Amino acid sequence: MAYRVAIVGATGRTGGIVDSVLRKHSYVEVIARTSRGEEGYLPLNIDKEEEVAYFMSLKPEIAFVTIDGDDVVKQYVEKFRERCPDMRIIDLSTAYRTHPDFVYGLPELPGRREEIKKANLVTNPGCYATSAILAAAPVLKKYGDETEIVIIDGVSSHTGAGKKAEDPKRDRPKYENNILPYATLDHKHRPEIGKEYGKLAGRAVRFGFYPSAVWVDPAILNTLKIITRKKFTNSGLFELYSEFYSNERFVRVVSHEPSAKDVRDTNYVEIYPVWDDKAELVVVRSTIDNLVKGAGGQAVQNMIIMLRL
Ligand SMILES: NC(=O)c1ccc[n+]([C@@H]2O[C@H](COP(=O)([O-])OP(=O)(O)OC[C@H]3O[C@@H](n4cnc5c(N)ncnc54)[C@H](OP(=O)(O)O)[C@@H]3O)[C@@H](O)[C@H]2O)c1
Repeated sequence: MAYRVAIVGATGRTGGIVDSVLRKHSYVEVIARTSRGEEGYLPLNIDKEEEVAYFMSLKPEIAFVTIDGDDVVKQYVEKFRERCPDMRIIDLSTAYRTHPDFVYGLPELPGRREEIKKANLVTNPGCYATSAILAAAPVLKKYGDETEIVIIDGVSSHTGAGKKAEDPKRDRPKYENNILPYATLDHKHRPEIGKEYGKLAGRAVRFGFYPSAVWVDPAILNTLKIITRKKFTNSGLFELYSEFYSNERFVRVVSHEPSAKDVRDTNYVEIYPVWDDKAELVVVRSTIDNLVKGAGGQAVQNMIIMLRL
């Protein structure tokens, strides 16, 4: 018998990716693809009791929440938890990324897979955050005490802002044919990055995160500069990263400049760690597809772990 799955907010960019990845898995059946009003989708407005009741009557075992907007996401998730406490929820928004009831679903972190297996509530990491946390994890885990600061320069496809980024009446003029720095001091992924860096290092880690959006197909490239008291060599760093991720099928530690095209439409992250001996710091380049490993692909990866498949 296939697991009964719902995609809540299925008309969006990440909802579409979840749907297409799930089509490759025969042990799940998507029984509801919801929208507030788009034709061809199951209508679900959280303030319409008859729609909520019908949705619940379908008895989904797993819900992917792929809605834009943390306040509205909370209304959906709270209602699901109240009405259907056994339903597993994988939320893709920032609403629960540091919430104690939710497991932060980045399976490649030490011990995290075991936590995800036991969880009913998983918060799926942000796209920049996925790449930035995996890029720093080996250094922070082993040399956290010797790490002084991590500086992250992030570049993302405009698709990170959802479907409104391509809507000519909404944000398209802002993104199209542009390089757009934004959220210099307060990007919404900062809290989750800080929390996971802290867990890895065993203490609070000083870091900065400076994102820019570019008009390009889905992609993220983070460049990390990690200043450490420890001096590395290139081969030592490569070995540290290769060993750390030796059992992780979706992490490729590479010894060449990574390219966003090499990971597009895949769940892979490519990580290129080097020691810059002129500047005396660790530089790590890390690239993913923001909609796949940065969203829908990782969400399905988490589902597979939760269901122990
Ligand atoms: N894009 C990325 O790269 C990315 C990566 C990681 C995480 N995320 C997160 O994933 C979530 C979805 O992002 P997205 O890029 O897929 O957004 P999107 O393309 O804008 O899609 C948003 C979806 O949310 C629904 N929605 C919007 N406002 C709603 C409301 N008030 N009530 C109910 N449904 C509403 C829309 O459905 P209808 O209009 O059809 O009702 C639509 O299906 C966000 O929380 C985002 O932060 C995005």
